[in-house]
Parts: sequence; C-alpha cells; structure tokens
Amino acid sequence: KINGAPKTDSKFEEIISNLPKDNGWKSIGQLYKYQGFWYAPLVLQKVISAQESFTPQPTDVVLCSSPKSGTAWLKALAFSIVSRNQVNDSTNPLLEKLPHEIVPFLEIELAQNSSNRNLEIPFVATHIPYTSLPKSIIDSGCKIIYICRDPKDVLISHWNFDHKVSGIGLESFPLEEALEQYCKGIYPYGPYWDHVLGFWKASLEVPEKVLFVKYEDLKTDGPFHVKRMAKFLGQPFSVEEEQQGVAENIVKKCSFETLSRLEVNKNGKYYLPDLPTFENKYFFRKGKAGDWKNYLTNEKAEKLDQIMEEKFSGSGLV
Ligand code: A3P
Repeated sequence: KINGAPKTDSKFEEIISNLPKDNGWKSIGQLYKYQGFWYAPLVLQKVISAQESFTPQPTDVVLCSSPKSGTAWLKALAFSIVSRNQVNDSTNPLLEKLPHEIVPFLEIELAQNSSNRNLEIPFVATHIPYTSLPKSIIDSGCKIIYICRDPKDVLISHWNFDHKVSGIGLESFPLEEALEQYCKGIYPYGPYWDHVLGFWKASLEVPEKVLFVKYEDLKTDGPFHVKRMAKFLGQPFSVEEEQQGVAENIVKKCSFETLSRLEVNKNGKYYLPDLPTFENKYFFRKGKAGDWKNYLTNEKAEKLDQIMEEKFSGSGLV
C-alpha cells in the first residue's frame, strides 16, 4: 500500500468479513467489532486508515472522547486556553466556526493526509479508543486529554442526535432498544465502559501524558479544571491572569449558553467527507448534566448504573 492511500475496497471487505457484526444501532445500521470496539463500516475503514497512516505533529495534543461526551466543548476550551494571547473578542474563530471546524477529527478528516489542517492549531480530536489509537500518537509522546460523561447522559444525547441525523422515526429505534444495546456494549465506538476505562487507566499510568476530565466537573467548577488543563498543556495561568479572571472568562466564552446562541451554531452546517451533512445546532441540544432524568425511569437508570459500577469496579473510577 502506498503510504497514505486508502485501502482498496476488496482489502477492507476481507477485513470486515471476518469481524463479529451486529444489527445493532438502528439509526446508524450494522456495527462491526474491531479490536474490541464497535464501528459503523464507513468509520471503521477510516479508523484502520488512520492507524496505518496518521502522523501527528510532535507538539500535537489529542482530544479524545466517546461521542456525545462533550467533544465540542473540550475542543472550544482547549483551543481557547492555548490561543488566549493570540485572539481577541473580534478575531476569535469560535465566533464564526463550529468547534469541530477548528479542531479536526483525525480518523474522519486526516486519515489519508495528516497535514490537511491548520498546523498552527496544536490539536486533533478522535473518538478512537485508547488501545486502538494510531501507534504514531503514542510513539510521538503526544499529550492526550480525555473527556468522560455520565453514561446515562451520553446515551440520551447520542440517541437524540442520531435520530436527528438519520431522520428515522423514534418508533423505528425506541429508547428501550437503544438502552438494551448500550447495556450490552453494542454502541458506536463502544462498549462505553471500555472506552472510558482505557483512557482512565492510561491517565493513572502516565499522568503527565494523559489528562482525564469529567463533563460534570467542568459544569460545577469550570475555572478549576480549565486551570488544570492549562497546566497540563504547559501553559499555566500567570498570577496576573489569575487576578484578571482569564480562566473564568474562557469558561464563559465556551459555555453552552454562549456557544449555542451564536449564529454559526444556530444556522450553520458542518460537512465531513463521506458523512451526512450535519446542522451545527445538532451539536448543541441541552448541554446539561442529568437530562437523562427526563427520559429514563429510576429503575432503568439503576440498571445502567449497576452495569457501569460493575465494569468500573476496582478501577478507582466512580
Ligand atoms: P446534550 O445532547 O445532552 O445536550 P459532543 O460534542 O461529544 O458531540 O457532545 C454533545 C453534547 O455536549 C450535547 O449534549 C451538547 O448539547 C453538549 N454540549 C455542547 N457544547 C457544550 C458546552 N459548551 N457546554 C456543555 N455542554 C455542551
């Protein structure tokens, strides 16, 4: 294979023909299990390409997440932290662009050509699980920030998002069915618990390389965690910046309320190669911790909590 060239379809067909598959996540379609995680075929092809060809810049930081865990929020915050002395209120690209347009997804946009991006922005993002990340990322010693979210909110967010994107009716993929699949681990880039655990364990083993952030913690104490991120990124806030409330200002500028009200995020569209066109507003639904309460009975929530507790038991992650 020529470096960077896409795999031939027949080669890919051969790979997926040997993988376990499930009819699984109806709004997306069939999922295939590769290296322990479930993917839609189109995404899997790109993941494999990225594993073979993606080469980061040595200074890149990789922003990692399971879908619907707060990826766009993490992109906005990380970008705002490192660009705080380069952009001002009139030049900030976040005012004109969806955070996903500022920080590209490596497996979707960069699998064939790693440099097809603004190289001045030292971030790439991915939903690829830790154990399947392109080896080049680990070998280059890139730093990683992972955002994790309450599994119940992730499910509700994903289920709502997929319905909007796919256009299939709620009755065709009811929440009960999505919950059942999710509990079995059959979920895009899932099992969710294994996705989280991979990064969690890495953050314990190499804390200087992997920072683990929780969506709910960002909600309750944004400035503290923004300062943590800035320190991890090697750009801590100075005493002067602390006094000026720079971290608080970043939290405000990246808040759901601020971003979701911007014209670009209300009416803009987001195009990705080979994927359906997304309306930017799909990425800003409610932005709350605990919205699952409006969808899941206590009984169902407890069942899900129990599964997650079992999976996370002994890991130190609660
Ligand atoms: P909800 O569907 O629960 O509202 P991702 O970016 O990984 O696709 O995650 C999307 C989820 O993050 C959505 O959750 C979305 O509303 C929420 N979100 C987007 N921007 C946010 C922000 N600035 N602050 C908090 N949550 C945000």
